[in-house]
Order: sequence, then C-alpha cells, then structure tokens
Amino acid sequence: MNTQEMVQIALDLAKLDELPMDSAISVEGENITSVLAGIDMGAAELSLARQLGYDCVARHHNMVPRLGKLGDLVAHDHYEKMVKYGVPVNVAQKLLEHRKRAVEIMFHGSNLDGAPSVARLLGMPYVGLHTPADLLGERAVEAKVAEVCSEKENPTVQDVLDKLLTIREYAQAPEGQKPAIWVGEPTSYAGKVIVEFAGGLAGELDELKAYIDAGVGTFICMHMDGDIVKALREDNRCNVLVMGHMSSDSIGFNQILDAWEAKGVKVTRVGGLI
Ligand SMILES: [Fe+2]
Repeated sequence: MNTQEMVQIALDLAKLDELPMDSAISVEGENITSVLAGIDMGAAELSLARQLGYDCVARHHNMVPRLGKLGDLVAHDHYEKMVKYGVPVNVAQKLLEHRKRAVEIMFHGSNLDGAPSVARLLGMPYVGLHTPADLLGERAVEAKVAEVCSEKENPTVQDVLDKLLTIREYAQAPEGQKPAIWVGEPTSYAGKVIVEFAGGLAGELDELKAYIDAGVGTFICMHMDGDIVKALREDNRCNVLVMGHMSSDSIGFNQILDAWEAKGVKVTRVGGLI
C-alpha cells in the first residue's frame, strides 16, 4: 500500500470526503509493508522506526503546521454538534467565534514542524490521523450508549459505564487511568447522553453549560480539566463520565490500523496505544 491508500481507508471508514485540518501525510511513501503506530509519535519514534526497519510511522496526535488553522475545524464541528443537540444557533455561533480565535492563539507559538522536518530528513513516510479516528471512536461509544438506552428505560450513569467497559480498550485501561464518574453519582439518571470525542479539541465550560441548558444530562469525554470538573460539580445539573484519553483515542485509531492489517500491512502498536 501507499500512504494515499492508507489515508483513503481511514476516510472511508470515518465516512469523510477529505482529510480534515488535523490530519495529514507529512511524508508520502509507496510499497509500505510495516507501520510503527502510536498515539504520540515524534522524532524519537521516527528514528526508532528507521533503526528497526519499519517503512512508515503513523500517529494519532498529528502536530503539523496547518494546526495553526485548526480553529476553523473546531468552530465548524462544535457548531454542528451543538445545534444537533438543541443549542440555539445564536448561542452556538457566539460561543464558537470566541473559541475559534482561542484555538488559533493556542497553536500560534507551537513548534509544529519539528517532527515532520525529521521525517523529511529521514525520508520516512509519516501519516497522522486525528479527526477520522476520533469520529470512529465516538461512533463506537455512541452505539454502546444506544444499546443501554434500548435495554433500560431510564439508565443510570453506572449502567452506561458498565456497558462501555465491555469495549476492550476500556476494559484494559491501565490502573490510574480507568474510566470513571467525575461528576454525578453511580445512581444518577444519565438523561440525554452526549459523546464528546471528535471536533479537534474538547468542549469548554461555556459550551458544556449550553448543552446542559439544551437538555443534555450526561457527558462522555476522553479527558476533562480539573477546573471544569469543579465548575460542573458546583453547577449540580449534569453527570460526566471521563473514559480516559489514551483508551478513547485507541478505540478509533485501532479500527484504522485493523483495516490496514486486513490489507496485509504489519502494524506494531506503541506510543500510548491500548
Ligand atoms: Fe487525543
């Protein structure tokens, strides 16, 4: 396979027409038979891949120069989702105008071409897939949530958590990073559940409060900042299930890697993949 075909497999799985802003082929390659893959794969892993004889490196967290424009993706995807869950268009628009600028400011000073420059120097094919994997992970978790809701009229947060623990990546999460209820109690009614995985970056407090105002009862997230957890506890209206960053990222990325393996490519999983 070549890198274009590898990326196309990911886009087809995620039902996307084009490579999102947070995904890229930094170095193209042909005749790829072995891939070293991980959540975070930088300069050290690129040179390790060369040393060990791999002919491509694939990563989930794709730090590349065009992330300087990630604000567009975050604003667009978060807007679509907020409106889908009932947030008024005027509220979603105003919140995300601010968010777009904040994301641009966040990435403006980052060293985004560091690892790609090493890949170019080594001539090592280098692929990064962020949103395609996050969408696949989000859909897998949404499907499990739908199962709970079809089995029980008013599921609790614990019911949802138990169902999600049937996903291998969550069952095998390392000690200290297990899925957990960070806001609410095991007996709390889940209410309307939203899975917040895709969209480039996690939602911020004002966005989450807008979802609550629109009727969302439980957030399922990969990770959450401590001050947002504190604020949502004080707000005392919603529940939050934090499923773990590496496990959640692995669910979607593993689907892509499995599809490459099905085409005969050897994939070795390191760099945070579960
Ligand atoms: Fe991530």
